[in-house]
Amino acid sequence: MSDLELNPLFARADEVTSFPRHRIPEVGSLPETAYQLIHDEAMLDGNARMNLATFVGTWMDDYADRLYSEAFDKNMIDKDEYPATAEIEDRCWRMIARLWNAPDPDHTLGTSTVGSSEACMLGGLALKRRWQHGRRETGKSTERPNIVLSSAVQVCWEKFCNYFEVEPRYVPVSEEHRVLDGHDLDSYVDENTIGVVVIMGVTYTGMYEPVAEIAEALDEIQSRRGLDIRIHVDAASGGMIAPFLQPDLEWDFRLPRVASINTSGHKYGLVYPGLGWIVWRTREDLPEDLIFRVSYLGGDMPTLALNFSRPGAQVLLQYYLFLQLGMDGYRRVQGATMDVARYLAGEIGKMPDFELWSDDPDIPVFAWRLVGEDARTGGGVRRGRKWTLYDLSDRLRMHGWQVPAYPMPDNLSDMTVQRIVVRNGMSHDLATLFVRDLRTCVHYLDGLDAPLPSSAVGGHGTGFHH
Ligand SMILES: Cc1ncc(COP(=O)(O)O)c(C=O)c1O
Repeated sequence: MSDLELNPLFARADEVTSFPRHRIPEVGSLPETAYQLIHDEAMLDGNARMNLATFVGTWMDDYADRLYSEAFDKNMIDKDEYPATAEIEDRCWRMIARLWNAPDPDHTLGTSTVGSSEACMLGGLALKRRWQHGRRETGKSTERPNIVLSSAVQVCWEKFCNYFEVEPRYVPVSEEHRVLDGHDLDSYVDENTIGVVVIMGVTYTGMYEPVAEIAEALDEIQSRRGLDIRIHVDAASGGMIAPFLQPDLEWDFRLPRVASINTSGHKYGLVYPGLGWIVWRTREDLPEDLIFRVSYLGGDMPTLALNFSRPGAQVLLQYYLFLQLGMDGYRRVQGATMDVARYLAGEIGKMPDFELWSDDPDIPVFAWRLVGEDARTGGGVRRGRKWTLYDLSDRLRMHGWQVPAYPMPDNLSDMTVQRIVVRNGMSHDLATLFVRDLRTCVHYLDGLDAPLPSSAVGGHGTGFHH
């Protein structure tokens, strides 16, 4: 590949006019020269406001931006250097522990992480370690741990199983059991099961898995088979929606079987990328030998995380939002986002080509498929339709909208869905414009004389995990 050329308008006399693409340049440049080049290239990234694919926050207000620029040098691990940030981290996870109805938030443990993926790894590790201790105490083998989860888990759980050598026991989703719902759980668990993962806000469809029903199924299994199996709730998105929009839904520490919960501060926590949270029900749910001590104001402070150094600024931003919005503000923001999601789902559900995957969104995320779809081609030619959801996704991109189409996981991998994630910042006006563009795209595709080449060969079809 050729070098990166600098626009002559910005080049100074005696300065470099090009940079090697994959090698550190021998000689440096003026800051403004390097800035201009990177600024221009980063412009090619999409318009985040029109990205209806991502869950991750892309906008914060001016005060948050100010705090961010005052704090981007803070290292979360350096509790001695940044005791105030460490104290604020502590306050934040205790606030979250209360939000999730932990029995004793002042005496449990939690931490910030870089995102839900790291938090899920920690949750899974605690389940595994606790199981290992129990097995060793009774002289039993710790060779073959397994964990039960839906086939629709986010990829971080596949990583957990792979990296930490735990057998995943996937319960497939189906038309009848659209989420993990406790059905047939009996045949998946045994004495080597370290836990069950329940998702509040399935990545593919936005649906909640019914934590209470699954806990009940596990209660029943315990009374019959003596297996005491705990739940980790992966509430990456729902953890910051359910407490505000569905406060009566019992999915959290109100259920005694729930050992730990994670969420992404950078999703519906409304913070910029780089923040997750995990809280354990009690200290006993997090085995002591997973905790490390770092020096903190001459004393010591428990820490647990996979990374050592990481940014501390996002933690301050989460605290800013807790103070600035309060419970009421979060209710209003999440409520407005949900209203837009309901509006969009309603409009899309009314269109004759589409069928919503669930009637009413749980989080402001919903998916749909084509009516009468020929599953393998993303909803092809049956009913005389010459286009697929992949074609529609491509077409919407021409209007600037990113709306992914992707196959469902096992056992529905023959089915293609399309999904919208509504985030704060997607206003009602923008949503109306989106619906207009969607109709234009469908109208265009309906007018085709023949299927587009990609539909004819059943193209696309890659997995989608965000
Ligand atoms: C259910 C679920 N768990 C975990 C993750 C991973 O979260 P993060 O991107 O914060 O690491 C996601 C991301 O979409 C998710 O939807």
